[in-house]
Amino acid sequence: MDIHNIVVLTGAGISAESGLATFRGADGLWCGHKVEEVATPEAYAENPGLVQAFYNARRRQLREVAPNAAHHALAELAARWHGNFLLVTQNVDDLHDRALAQTMPGHGFRLIHMHGELTKARCNQTGHVRECHEDLPADGNWRPHIVWFGEMPLEMDSISRALRQADLFLSIGTSGNVYPAAGFVAEARAAGAHTVELNLEPSLGMSFFAERRYGRATEHVPAFVAELLQR
Ligand code: APR
Repeated sequence: MDIHNIVVLTGAGISAESGLATFRGADGLWCGHKVEEVATPEAYAENPGLVQAFYNARRRQLREVAPNAAHHALAELAARWHGNFLLVTQNVDDLHDRALAQTMPGHGFRLIHMHGELTKARCNQTGHVRECHEDLPADGNWRPHIVWFGEMPLEMDSISRALRQADLFLSIGTSGNVYPAAGFVAEARAAGAHTVELNLEPSLGMSFFAERRYGRATEHVPAFVAELLQR
């Protein structure tokens, strides 16, 4: 099959081996909390102190982790792929950004953080988004630049356009629980793309994927990228 346009979707599983917790672990909690306690606009309105403290802790944790072999392999693919390549992540960590910056310094490679970014803050009044590497106070004007449940994911038009033109759709480290991301595989498939899932275990959408490989991202992603670049 002739592949020119690639769209990759990643989820929490790609950062797990860097030491960041996934959302739907065995205990059903995200770092000790139910998602509705910390990841909804209602939670922020009712208990801004708890929500800010939660995301402050997640932001601080980024300083203790580094991109792993799977992030680096995707950065290499982005740098070397001859056709179009779009990386869409549901992750709010900055590990893809850091891997890309190491592999492609100075290149304005486009990575879409569809669920927002821990390293940015958004003004409650104006919606203005700025870089943020410090703790945010409970009573300020700035909220984490995170797409919470009930809010609209970012850059959906660009993502849909890329999915309609995709020849290969690759889904990595996501459980397929959260829409619209969980529906991307069906969109890409309808557009005629070859669809591949790389995950620790079968996701909810597994039957939509033409090809499936199960195991750790740090093993499967570098291997898959090497195969692609050898074609
Ligand atoms: N390698 C590959 N996959 C892994 C690994 C690993 N080392 N470790 C875990 N996984 C897989 C799990 O098997 C699981 O299927 O990663 C997936 C992670 O799933 P979730 O925790 O549900 O994370 P994700 O799919 O990214 O969640 C989507 O939900 O809470 C919201 O907004 C949040 O972006 C998030 C969205």
